[in-house]
Amino acid sequence: MAKTKTAFFCQNCGTQSPKWIGKCPSCNEWNTFVEEIIHKETPNSPTIFKKSNSSPKLINEISLSEEARISTQSAELDRVLGGGLVPGSVILIGGEPGIGKSTLLLQITINLKKYKSLYISGEESAQQIKLRADRLGIHNNNCFVLNETRIEDIFLHIENVNPDIIVIDSIQTLHTDRVESSPGSVSQVRECTALLQRYSKESSKPVLLIGHINKDGNIAGPKVLEHIVDTVIQFEGDTNYMYRILRSTKNRFGSTSELGIFEMQNSGLREVTNPSELLLSHHDEELSGTAVAATIEGIRPFLIEVQALVSSAVYGTPQRSSTGFDLRRLGMLLAVLEKRAGFRLATKDVFLNIAGGIKVEDPAIDLAVISAILSSGQDTHIDKDICFAGEVGLSGEIRPVNRIDQRISEAEKLGFKQIFISKYNKKGLDSSKFKINIAFAGKVEDIFRGLFG
Ligand code: TYD
Ligand code: MG
Repeated sequence: MAKTKTAFFCQNCGTQSPKWIGKCPSCNEWNTFVEEIIHKETPNSPTIFKKSNSSPKLINEISLSEEARISTQSAELDRVLGGGLVPGSVILIGGEPGIGKSTLLLQITINLKKYKSLYISGEESAQQIKLRADRLGIHNNNCFVLNETRIEDIFLHIENVNPDIIVIDSIQTLHTDRVESSPGSVSQVRECTALLQRYSKESSKPVLLIGHINKDGNIAGPKVLEHIVDTVIQFEGDTNYMYRILRSTKNRFGSTSELGIFEMQNSGLREVTNPSELLLSHHDEELSGTAVAATIEGIRPFLIEVQALVSSAVYGTPQRSSTGFDLRRLGMLLAVLEKRAGFRLATKDVFLNIAGGIKVEDPAIDLAVISAILSSGQDTHIDKDICFAGEVGLSGEIRPVNRIDQRISEAEKLGFKQIFISKYNKKGLDSSKFKINIAFAGKVEDIFRGLFG
């Protein structure tokens, strides 16, 4: 007799439990447990795979030539992937709705004219995909489109078409007969991903998956999904802005510190090869409250504008708000300014914004943040050809940052005349090779004196 086994799964993080519980012990979400059938025994369940023909190999005898990476024809994506698609790898691309995941992958697929590709969509019909392709304006005679959600059928089509690259939009729409719960549920998503992963490894073909994210910004459904796949890439940005950032959070075949920048245009995504030029606003007027930071994301230096507004607080508790910068860190920097440099900010509202809707985690932008705040507080502008790179410590000291040479060269390349950095970065820095004036500062007071006399 067929046996069915069920368990409860948290639909937010994938935690499994033998009985229903109200609050997930792992992600602390309420009411997320749903009963799912985890094992369905059918007497003659169709075999998806042929008998395994893999055999153990000596590590020294494995040739690497067949593992050569496939370039996606997009320098930005290739860089994030660590140099292109690795055959036999599964790549998961997550992002908010409407950020451009489908656009990115369709664009990549039809640009890969040398390879036969299969774009499988459970979200859009073939006609809708064609409309999108027309909008992108690229033509390809080697790209197949399939509208299907049942994974058994998908494998049949894959066998017929025999594509070199497979794209699935999105993993949450797929379902398999092996599991009985509804599409998008934890066990379905996990099972389908595991099947695709096995297929990918056995056939040595890259599989790209699109994944939805939940309200915390994680890939929706199980965290385990991120364990199964080889590479996890986040596609992020503010839908109100044109810029989109591609960041890998896990990569078995490359570094996770790389970053790809795109711009969403009417005819698809354009690669941004020189981000600094876009992220600086180049206004002619001198405005108070803006400062430019020489930042590095991954190994890529670029300059970014920090904008601050300091105004008298209307209510008792002053407001602090920040976009693109950690609010707690802003609070800390304000406390440093208050305590170490004697600026009375306790009765002021402070708003901070990183231009371009970009999130920056590099601590080296601290110096630009405090400079922007000081500039707004003093209502005095900072010269447009000055930029900053330094971390601010709790005692108001300016701490050295990594890759200072790269930051200085980038600033020089973009025509800045002066850069403020930590005096502790002086050691080992050959300032004679730069034409830009390098100003060293040890404490926040030095910056204040340097800027406003
Ligand atoms: P889409 O790829 O459908 O997002 P996702 O798959 O992540 O949900 O992108 C949707 C947005 O992109 C939509 O708001 C329209 C916009 N867009 C452009 O601006 N230009 C284009 O060429 C395309 C195809 C979409
Ligand atoms: Mg989509």
